[in-house]
Amino acid sequence: MLPVMCEIDHITARLAHGRLTREHTLAQGGTVCDYLIEGDECEHGGEATTRKDSIRGAYKALGGSATVYDAMMTCGTPLGVAMSWAVWLIGPQENTAYLEAAMAGVPEGFSGSLLEVPVGTGVLTMPLYQTLPDARVTCLDYSPDMMAAAQARAERDGLSNVSFVQGDVGALPFDDESIDIVMSLNGFHAFPDKEAAYAETFRVLKRGGTFCGCFYVQGEVPLTDAWIRRFHEPRGFFTPPYETVASLEERLRGMYAQVHVETHKAMACFVCVK
Ligand SMILES: C[S@@+](CC[C@H](N)C(=O)[O-])C[C@H]1O[C@@H](n2cnc3c(N)ncnc32)[C@H](O)[C@@H]1O
Repeated sequence: MLPVMCEIDHITARLAHGRLTREHTLAQGGTVCDYLIEGDECEHGGEATTRKDSIRGAYKALGGSATVYDAMMTCGTPLGVAMSWAVWLIGPQENTAYLEAAMAGVPEGFSGSLLEVPVGTGVLTMPLYQTLPDARVTCLDYSPDMMAAAQARAERDGLSNVSFVQGDVGALPFDDESIDIVMSLNGFHAFPDKEAAYAETFRVLKRGGTFCGCFYVQGEVPLTDAWIRRFHEPRGFFTPPYETVASLEERLRGMYAQVHVETHKAMACFVCVK
């Protein structure tokens, strides 16, 4: 494989692996690795790096300010409410409604195996796991920094049935059809290789098992689309291409036996049975 070439000042990266052949010119201080995918090589400051590393780096910064991130995800403080409203047009009530819809695939008193990917800081799901002492929960994330916050939370809450694995949703370290529920909150808009993520979450799920969660869909709220293009993408928080409601429904119906999708502004929530 040919190396990626980059000149620092005005970084020009030529991606020579055949899937991306355009030249990308980035402003100084931008990260050339934003444009790389697994397997690309980069002679950039002597470090070989991949697009996934870039995303890990982006979320590392968030891991350090987990309270701001958590506040926005939960509408938990006045600043969190303001941020959620500014980006998503979602206030506290609708925030609760979309999270309930996303987690609706997890029954009360559930006692089987559950994989959550990505867990992030665990702010949304550790409270749920407190109510499921008999479930066997595995939380996976690519970013050790985000996951460290989730681990600290689980320890603080005494959640001995929740374990953590650093890994890639595109190469899940689990057997075929071994898990009862796979839950993915706000993950697919961040994953760089979405096809691998859909394939892997499907592969590890048992027949009759449930795939549920939520993520951003484009084309529903122009303001949110603009924020994501101008703010989230350049920082590596979100990675295109994105689903629309129609493309998501079509995809899930092509894979799963039962599919329910509901949207709250630009957030699509789904519960599917394999
Ligand atoms: C927006 S956060 C969502 C976290 C959490 N589920 C929530 O809703 O708060 C996206 C997460 O995806 C993780 N991530 C990105 N690419 C990943 C990959 N290939 N495999 C696993 N996790 C990944 C990031 O590290 C980050 O923690």
